[in-house]
Amino acid sequence: MKKNYEERIRTLLSKMTLEEKIGQLQQCGPSLVGAFDVSFDELLNMMFDGRITREEFDRLMGTAEQDFHEDDLRAGKIGSYNGIGDSAAANRLQKIAVEETRLGIPLLFGYDVIHGFRTVTPIPLAESCAWEPKLWEKTGRVAAKEATAAGVHLTFAPMVDVAKDARWGRVSEGAGEDVLLNADYGAAKVKGFQGDDLTKEDAMAACLKHFAAYGAGEAGRDYNRVDLSVQRLWEEYMPAYKACIDAGARAVMPAFNDINGVPCTVNSRLLRDVLREKWGFNGLVISDSNAIAECVSHGIAKDKRDAAKQALLAGMDMDMSSNSYVECLKELVESGEVPERVLDGAVENVLRIKFELGLFDHPYQTNEERESVCMLTEESRAIAREAAVKSLVLLKNENHILPLKSDAKIGIFGSLAADKGQMTGAWAIGARPEDCVSMVEACQERGISCQYSEDGKDMLKIAASSDVLIAAVGEMKEESGEAASRADITLNREHLALVRDLLATGKPVVVVLFNGRPLAIPELAEHVPAILEAWHPGVEAGPAILDVLFGDVNPSGKLTTTFPAATGQCPMYYAHINTGRPGGKSKFTSKYLDAPVEPVYPFGYGLSYTTFAYGELKVEKKEDAVWVSVSVSNTGERDGEETVQCYVQHVAAKRVRPVRQLKGYEKVGLKAGETKEAGFMIPFAELSYYDWDMNKIPCEGVLRVYVGGDSRAELMEEVVL
Ligand code: GLC
Repeated sequence: MKKNYEERIRTLLSKMTLEEKIGQLQQCGPSLVGAFDVSFDELLNMMFDGRITREEFDRLMGTAEQDFHEDDLRAGKIGSYNGIGDSAAANRLQKIAVEETRLGIPLLFGYDVIHGFRTVTPIPLAESCAWEPKLWEKTGRVAAKEATAAGVHLTFAPMVDVAKDARWGRVSEGAGEDVLLNADYGAAKVKGFQGDDLTKEDAMAACLKHFAAYGAGEAGRDYNRVDLSVQRLWEEYMPAYKACIDAGARAVMPAFNDINGVPCTVNSRLLRDVLREKWGFNGLVISDSNAIAECVSHGIAKDKRDAAKQALLAGMDMDMSSNSYVECLKELVESGEVPERVLDGAVENVLRIKFELGLFDHPYQTNEERESVCMLTEESRAIAREAAVKSLVLLKNENHILPLKSDAKIGIFGSLAADKGQMTGAWAIGARPEDCVSMVEACQERGISCQYSEDGKDMLKIAASSDVLIAAVGEMKEESGEAASRADITLNREHLALVRDLLATGKPVVVVLFNGRPLAIPELAEHVPAILEAWHPGVEAGPAILDVLFGDVNPSGKLTTTFPAATGQCPMYYAHINTGRPGGKSKFTSKYLDAPVEPVYPFGYGLSYTTFAYGELKVEKKEDAVWVSVSVSNTGERDGEETVQCYVQHVAAKRVRPVRQLKGYEKVGLKAGETKEAGFMIPFAELSYYDWDMNKIPCEGVLRVYVGGDSRAELMEEVVL
C-alpha cells in the first residue's frame, strides 16, 4: 500500500523560506577546477575532436579537483546532485545537507545508470533484441543493487525514445523503432530499477526519458527539431512513455527537442495537460542537462530569466545544471510574475520523491560492506552474460559455417576483438575497461587456437594456418550515443578493406559486428558467409560471443531496428505506409534510382542454428479482442528459441495505416522436432487510431493478421471487425 506523505510535505513546505524552496529545485553536478580553464564538456569535446589525446584528457582530469559547491549546499541552495557515483562522497555531501542546513532536507542523488553500473550489460538496443521483458527487468535489478550501493537514488533511465532513423546516435540507448517494444522494455526496466518498495536500500527511482519523441529529430541529427503530426506522436511515440508511467516511474525527463515548435522543456501541453492532468503523474519532472537555459538558443525565451519563468510555469520541477532557477526564480516570485503556489507545487514534487525513497528516514548509504561486495559479482556477471548472449543476432550463416568446431584454428582481426573499453558502449559512466572480457581474452581462457592481428598484419601467414578468419568490425563506442549522429552509416573504409582482404584469402570469413546503431552493410551481406551482430555487449562480451560462435548457445536474438541498404534510405522502418505507388520495379513508383527500397535486414529478423516452421494460423473475432493462435515447430537438429511475432494491417481506414504493426510477440523454446502453440489476444482498443481531427476511432473493416519470425511474415489470415 503506497504511503501518503502529503501531510508531511505540506508541513515541511510551510517552514521553508523562498530561498530554501528554490534550492530544492537545483540539481548540479561536480564541476571541475583544474589547471585548465575549460569546462568538462569542452575538455571532452577536445578529446573527441582529437585536439587532445585520451592520455592528456586523463592527465588533465587527474589534476582537476571536483568542486561540489559546498558553500551553496550549506546555504540550502542545492537539492540534488547528478553524477556522484560513490557512497563516501554522497554520504559526505548528505551529512552537510542533513546536519548543517536549517531544515536538514536530504539530497537526492541522480546518475545515468542506463545499462548497468559496474556490471555493464549490453547497450539497450542490443538487449532489446532479446525480446524478453523478464530479462530486461532482471538486468535492471542488478543495476539498481550496484548503483544504490554507491549512493544513487535516481537513475536517468529507461530511455524509451522510439528511433526510426539509424543516423541518430542515441538509437543505441533505447529499444529500437517499435513503440510496443519500447513500451515493454521501459516498463520492465522501471520495475527492475524500483523493485517492489522504493524505500528499500537497493531500490532506485526510475526517470523515463526523453519526453517526448526525441528520436524523431529531423535528419537524424541530435537535438534537432521534431515536426510530427499529433496523430503519429500519439500512435507511434507516446505509448512508450505512458507504459513507464503506468509501471510506476517516479520521474520524467523532458527532451531537449521541440515538438512542432515548442521545446519540451517549456511545453505545458506536455508537462501539465498530458503528464499531470491526463496521465495523473505526481512524480518529479527534471530537466535535461542545461535544457532550461538552452530555451534561449531555441528562440522561445528572450533570456535566462524568461526561460526559468516559462519552464516553471510549464511544469518543470527541477533544473539540471543550468542554474536558471537559482539565479532567476527569487526575483520572479517576488515580482509576482511567478505565483509562489506554482513554486510550491514544484517543491512538493521534489519533497515527495525524497519521502518516497525514504531519504528522510535513511539519508545515508550506511552499508559500506554492501558497496564493497555487491559490485560485479559472479551472479551479476552471469546475468550480464545471459543478456549478452540473448542480444546477439545471427544475420547470416551460409553453408552452416557456424557454429565452429571446438578445435577450429581461428585467426581474429580488428582492434574491436581485443579493445575491452569498447565493449561497454557509449553510456556506461561507471564502466571500467578492465572489467570487460574481450573476444581475444575469451579465446585464450577457453584454450582456443587463436592468432590475433589488430590491423591485418601477417594476414596471409595467419590465414594459411587457420580454418576460419574472424573480422571484428563496426563502430567505436564514441561513434554512437549522445551527440554522435552520422551522415554516413556504412562500415568505415578501414574495416571494409580489412573484410575484403580477408575474403581475398579464400578462407571462410565470419564478421562479428560491434556497433551502436544499424549499419548499412550491403557488401558484407552479399559476400561474407557469416555475420553475427554483437553490438556493444558489455562486460561479458567475449564469452558471450564465443558461446554463440562455438555453438554452446543457439542464438535467438531478433533485430529491433531495420538495417538499411544505404544511408539515403533513412529514416527506414518496418511500420511504414504503402503509398499509392509502392516502391517496385516500374518507373513511376515510390523508389530510388540508386538504391533499393528494401532493407538489408528487416525488423524482427534473426537466424538460429535450427529452423522453425509455422503451421495453421487461426484468427477469431471475440467480444472485445482479436484472438490469434498459431503452431510453431522446430524442424532442425537442435533445440532453439523462436520469437513468434504477430503483426496487423488495417487494410482500409480513415487514415492510411502502416503495412505492419507489431501487436504481440512470444519467445518460444522448442526442442528439436517439438511443436507448440503460440497465442495472442489483441484488444480492439489497441487497434484504434486517430482520425484527421484527433478523434480516437475503432479499427473497422478488414484486418490482416500476419504471424512469423520477422516483419516480412507472410502467413496471414483476415478478420472483419
Ligand atoms: C544528457 C542526456 C540525458 C542524461 C543527462 C544527465 O545530456 O541527454 O539523457 O540523463 O544529460 O547526464
